[in-house]
Amino acid sequence: MVASKYAKRGLMQSEFTQRANALPAHGLGLSVDVYSPDLLQLVQALRDAGLEPGYLEVFKATTSVLQWVRRQLPDSTLTYHGEGLWSTQPDFPQSNSGRQGVAEACAQIAALNSAWLNHECATKQMAGYAFGTYLPPLYTDLSARMTAQNLVYLQNQVDEQARERGITPALVLLEMPPLTYFGCGTSGIPEFFRTVTGRAACGLVLDIGHLWTLYRYTGAWQRQRLEVFTDEFLDAFPMERVIEIHVAGLAEFASSDGLQDEASSALPYWIDAHGAPIPSVLFDLLDQVLSHPRLISLKGAALEVDTKPIAMIVEEFRRFRARFESTVNEVQQNRCASSPQSPVTDRLAGAMQILTSDERAALQRQYGTYVEFVTTQDAASMAEDLSLLGGSLEDLNRYRDCYLPHELLHWGGELQDMFPKTCRMLSEGHIPLERFVPFWFSRPRPEQDDYDFFLLKIDRFAEFAAHVCPPAAASVKAEAQELRDAYRVANEPAGLPEVRV
Ligand SMILES: [Fe+2]
Repeated sequence: MVASKYAKRGLMQSEFTQRANALPAHGLGLSVDVYSPDLLQLVQALRDAGLEPGYLEVFKATTSVLQWVRRQLPDSTLTYHGEGLWSTQPDFPQSNSGRQGVAEACAQIAALNSAWLNHECATKQMAGYAFGTYLPPLYTDLSARMTAQNLVYLQNQVDEQARERGITPALVLLEMPPLTYFGCGTSGIPEFFRTVTGRAACGLVLDIGHLWTLYRYTGAWQRQRLEVFTDEFLDAFPMERVIEIHVAGLAEFASSDGLQDEASSALPYWIDAHGAPIPSVLFDLLDQVLSHPRLISLKGAALEVDTKPIAMIVEEFRRFRARFESTVNEVQQNRCASSPQSPVTDRLAGAMQILTSDERAALQRQYGTYVEFVTTQDAASMAEDLSLLGGSLEDLNRYRDCYLPHELLHWGGELQDMFPKTCRMLSEGHIPLERFVPFWFSRPRPEQDDYDFFLLKIDRFAEFAAHVCPPAAASVKAEAQELRDAYRVANEPAGLPEVRV
């Protein structure tokens, strides 16, 4: 049993090594959004400053917009940052995310000609409930095995669709997600990723800011220095699978002012914030990560800069290049993976370890409990079933009482701006908009075709307003339709000029 476990781990590693060795070094890049800031303006500003990035990792948009990007930047190396692939969830292969979502991701990989498909090891959809931002997986052994199984499925789909298109298959990369005030589970986070990589030949993305949030919200900062935590973390983490490194900004959440900070708190309540400046502590951490001897598969390091002002991106990329270009090049060239080559393993070997239907059902139930845990006021009584990964219930309260309502009420558009007439009617009926939050989580709902928070918010609010204020039903329906139509037009490239940069 033990021998076969190690044999399997070895096969996964050699399949990974073969795929990783086939990837070209990408150098220093930027992970960007097409719209925010405007991608072509950003590229022009970088060129004007003599700072051409080695590659651009482009966040999911519509496939036609990504085809347009490819045409405008014919000489650039482009990679793909996926979204909406909920591979941590037990129903992934059967879900819309696992079917249409994966097919769309494959089309977008082909549009960009990307060498990899990066996706956060996190979800915005679980047990029938949707969130605006990512929730990390349950950090348990069962959940890691489920994620690995889903990643094998995902890589198989990517391979199959690439074969049909006659292109080289992209390698699936799993990004370790940040903690936004809390994490739940019983296993360590490095151990979770070790279990995943022992069962799936995927690569990993190590995000330096995410690593900092682990130090902050597992409570490790109260016991040890950041350098010591990082050393221990990296030694336990499957560093040999890290293909890409991300660095992005961190910032305190804008609406957390009302919350009482602990008097003893020595560290800020920073969370992942791509639009915020990169604190210097992250570049110091990056030095430490780049010097790790098991970082042997690195193919790129990117600043994640969506929603950041162009001038700040140019300045940060200048500093990033000046400090890390030679080290990253050296790591890419001299520490290449050296495991012996072997033929790509038939992944049917993994069939022996497919989760039973009981295990999947148990995990599905645990994700239902997880939703209750993070959305209801009664979290303390549920702590017996689900433990926090260190940190405190107070930190979880910060997420539930402040961050989560803000996400639903204000993100992706202010409700008053989106539905002015309906909001007036609700106000005249003395119905506070805050009631939208418990309504959102009042019951599970079927998954939408394609996860899109803006469209989801429109649908849910239309349902909410018609429910709590029947006279507003017609007005909210009309306003919702107007928003959907405008959104569809804004997301198509019809209005985008064909100007090669
Ligand atoms: Fe990232």
